Amino acid sequence: MNRIKSLLIVIAGLVVGMTAQARTFDEIKASGKIIVATEGAYPPFNYYQGSKLTGFEVELAEAMVKKMGLAIEWKALSFDALLAGLSQDRWDMVVASFGITEERAKAVTFTNPHYCSGGVIVSRDGSIKTPAMLAGKTVAVQTGSTYMANVKKLPGLKDVKNFPQDSDARAALLNNRVDAWVSDRFVVKNAIDSNPNLPLKAGGYLFVEKMAIAVKKGNTSVAAAVDKALADVMADGTYKTLSEKYLKEDIRCPQ
Ligand code: ARG
Repeated sequence: MNRIKSLLIVIAGLVVGMTAQARTFDEIKASGKIIVATEGAYPPFNYYQGSKLTGFEVELAEAMVKKMGLAIEWKALSFDALLAGLSQDRWDMVVASFGITEERAKAVTFTNPHYCSGGVIVSRDGSIKTPAMLAGKTVAVQTGSTYMANVKKLPGLKDVKNFPQDSDARAALLNNRVDAWVSDRFVVKNAIDSNPNLPLKAGGYLFVEKMAIAVKKGNTSVAAAVDKALADVMADGTYKTLSEKYLKEDIRCPQ
């Protein structure tokens, strides 16, 4: 009897979970505040400067939310928890440099891309320049990233080591625990520029991708509001100013 009871409670919980509705844009508007999740450990896109969350994506999202006429509430969580939280209605959108992939698009809805970039190969001495040169090597990547997915597809690697944070993958390279680190071109450039004495040399692209904001799967009203706000900040010069501030160039995707 008790077993049946607990089974029923579990089933009821599942049904409630599955039918829970994401907030529509009208509901968000009525509340006055949108909840946005990011990681906060991926400079120069989203990171902490002391206790302040900042970066290109953070300032861009803040400018977009202002256009929407809303206040913003940030949540900072580990990278691999971000998309799952959308399905659980824990926040309204995620901005954390997620590349658009077919796999992810099964679970969430992506907006129009907010920038284009790609994964580059980094070694201590610059000797690893091409994907083919990774054969027989050990490579560090962030867990759950497109770097991990694309590195794993390469033939002949010795090993792929994954780390919860991208900066840990970089540290593994610096500490000689791996031969290479694969990360975003601008993340790598930022790491090199801010520590010119470190042995970090970027090689070529492993792949290119489009990064976008994610909302709950099928939440079209919020996706449309994000697309509109993104188009607005791209049109009025805000995007260009922020992009040049953090990346020294305009990194919007070619139209
Ligand atoms: N662009 C890569 C991906 O889509 C890495 C994103 C990492 N983002 C972060 N906040 N650490 O997986």
